Amino acid sequence: MSDQTPPESVGRDYTIAVLGGDGIGPEVVNAAVRVAVHCAAKYAFSLTLQPALVGGVAYDAVGTPLPSETLQACHRADAVLLGAVGGPKYDSLPPALRPEVGALLPLRKELGLFANLRPARLFPALASASALRADIVGDGLDLLVVRELTGGIYFGSPKGRSADGLSAVDTCTYSRGEIERILHVGFRAARQRSRRLCSVDKANVLESSRFWREICVEISAQYPDVALTHMLVDNCAMQLVRDPRQFDVIVTENMFGDILSDEASMLTGSLGMLPSASLGEASSARGRGTFGMYEPVHGSAPDIAGKGLANPLATIISTAMLFRHSLGEEDAAADIEQAVAAVLEAGLRTADIAPAGIASVGTEAMCEAVIARL
Ligand code: IPM
Ligand code: MG
Repeated sequence: MSDQTPPESVGRDYTIAVLGGDGIGPEVVNAAVRVAVHCAAKYAFSLTLQPALVGGVAYDAVGTPLPSETLQACHRADAVLLGAVGGPKYDSLPPALRPEVGALLPLRKELGLFANLRPARLFPALASASALRADIVGDGLDLLVVRELTGGIYFGSPKGRSADGLSAVDTCTYSRGEIERILHVGFRAARQRSRRLCSVDKANVLESSRFWREICVEISAQYPDVALTHMLVDNCAMQLVRDPRQFDVIVTENMFGDILSDEASMLTGSLGMLPSASLGEASSARGRGTFGMYEPVHGSAPDIAGKGLANPLATIISTAMLFRHSLGEEDAAADIEQAVAAVLEAGLRTADIAPAGIASVGTEAMCEAVIARL
């Protein structure tokens, strides 16, 4: 390092736990890591990368999808970069050994990552890739789904099969505290955008939703500058395809957020473009931001794994979110986002976002192109 290092670089020494996982996970994570390392050099901060096993590859290697060393590596890090977990090979294992239920959900729970931010942004260059007509997406689409991630029906008990095997149960439970903290994340996010928040529930049927809505109305008094609306989840699913531009920030519980975020992703053209951040409570003790885990919304895509075809952009944009939310490295984050927009403007497309008949590039070439524009 040169003796020109600016004084503010002192203490900008970060550890990232790198969990490639299954399928295309390692390929897209490798691409994102190359972008991250390039940014660290350019913006004069230092990164320690701590690789760890998760998902099916961990099960194959050590017999569990979430080894305790992996969890420890995550606890010690400033942030976690995750590829994807799961694959057909592991689908018939008992739940606790399956990558999704045995690794991803406990990772979220153990690390306290209750706030999942899933921005769905349509890059202008990809407008024609949207599943919606040009007059519906208009000159762009930019919405944020704030999904509660560690409560609700994913985690409530009782859960399981009855002794006679004739019924099964899952339970949707939310405490006041769980609802309050995610709603605050939603309101604060809306404040940083266009100050519109839509809280999505099923208050015409579910008791947990009625509780949610009641608390939301209460909390809204603290955010008089944010315009709050409530929408039933079935209506929201419909409105997202009818008129997606009416939304800015959507805040909702775990399972509704899972479903609506997949729907929102298609508005942007490809699941291969969507990043996500899963954040815990803000903590100043750790790095300069909030501890979080960052992953693309797409899954492990076993059908194209190992072929060098995967779109790395969602993971690269997730890395920008990591820099912004967990490291406080806003300049590097913005640089990555503009580089991604620039490669798309230049016409580069991986197969998932290439119009029919247009040549596409692979993971490697897309990564190189982003780095060249940083
Ligand atoms: C997601 C995924 C996961 C979820 C699965 C893989 C457990 O669909 O992150 O959206 O349901 O949360
Ligand atoms: Mg999902």
